[in-house]
Amino acid sequence: MACAPVLVTRRIPEAGLQCLLDAGLEFDVFADDRSPSREEFLRIVPGRSGILALLHDRIDAEALDAAGPQLRCVSNFAVGYNNIDIEEATRRGVLVTNTPDVLTEATADLAWSLIMAAARRICEGDRMVRAGEFHGWEPMMLLGQDLVGKTLGIVGAGRIGSAVARRSRGWEMRVLYTDSSVNESLERDLGASRVDLDTLCSESDVISVHCPLMEETHHLFGADQFGRMKTTAVFVNTARGPIHDEAALAQALRDGVIAAAGLDVFEREPSVDPLLMELDNAVLLPHIGSATRPTRDRMAITAAENLIAALRGERPANLLNPEVIEGRP
Ligand code: DGY
Repeated sequence: MACAPVLVTRRIPEAGLQCLLDAGLEFDVFADDRSPSREEFLRIVPGRSGILALLHDRIDAEALDAAGPQLRCVSNFAVGYNNIDIEEATRRGVLVTNTPDVLTEATADLAWSLIMAAARRICEGDRMVRAGEFHGWEPMMLLGQDLVGKTLGIVGAGRIGSAVARRSRGWEMRVLYTDSSVNESLERDLGASRVDLDTLCSESDVISVHCPLMEETHHLFGADQFGRMKTTAVFVNTARGPIHDEAALAQALRDGVIAAAGLDVFEREPSVDPLLMELDNAVLLPHIGSATRPTRDRMAITAAENLIAALRGERPANLLNPEVIEGRP
C-alpha cells in the first residue's frame, strides 16, 4: 500500500503484525520490547501515516502536531481510549479506532477472579502457605465474604459490565447498575435495576467498575462513596485507575470502612499507592484484564485491521470519530 510508514509503538502479537505485512504496509515496531519515552515517541512519530498505539501512549495535540498532516489514523490497541484526545484528532481529520468486543469475556473473567480473590482472601492464603505459616485448619482463619444471594453493583453496564453481570447468575445475585442509559437486556434477563450511584454504593455487597475514564468519571469513587458502602463490601476496578481516588481507597481499606478491594488498574500506573501495597485486604494485579493469548491475538488483528481499512480510505470497523468521514465532501 503506498503510504508513509506506520509506527507500532511496542511489540504486539505476531498475528497483528502479519496483517500489516499481508496488506503491504510498511511499518516499524519500536525496538527493545519496551514503550518509547515521550521524547523518543516525539522523535520517531514525524511523517507517519498511522500509529498503532498502546493505552499509555499519550496522543494529544503535541503528538499529533509532531506526527504531521499526513497522519490518517491512530489505532489504539485497547478498548479504552482516554489516552487519545479525540477532539484534537477529529479537528485534524485523523481517524481514531479501538478494539472493543474481542476482550469483553477475558476482562469479565478477570473481574470475577478479583471478586473471588478479594472476597475469599485467596492471595493472603497463598502468601500464608508459602511463608510456612499454615499450621493446620483453624476455625477463625482467613474468614471472608459470602457471595451467593448477595447484591452485585455494576458501574457502567456496557459490554464488559454486562458480561460481569451475566456471570453473577451462578451466584444467584441481585444486580444493580448505574449507566447513562437503560440496559434493557440486563433488566429483562437478570432482573437488574438501574439506580443512582449512592444507592448502588450503599446496597451492594460487591461493586465492580466498568465505565470509561472521562472527566465525569475521574474520582467517581472517593472517601464519600467508600463511606456509603457496607463494611463488608468488596470493591473491584478493572476499568481505569483514576476512576477511584487511590489514596482514599487505601484509607478505607486500612480503616475497615470496606472489607476488601481487587484492582487491575491504578491511578498512576505503573506506580501504586504505598499504603495500598502494605494492605493484605487489597488484591493487586498489573493491568492484565485482557491478557489471554487468544484475546491479545484478536486485539492485535482488530487494531491492525482498523488501521489498514483507514489507510485504504475505507471506514474502519471500530471508528470512534465518524464525523471525520461523515464530514468529508
Ligand atoms: C483496554 O483494552 O482498555 C484494557 O485496559 C487493556 O486491554
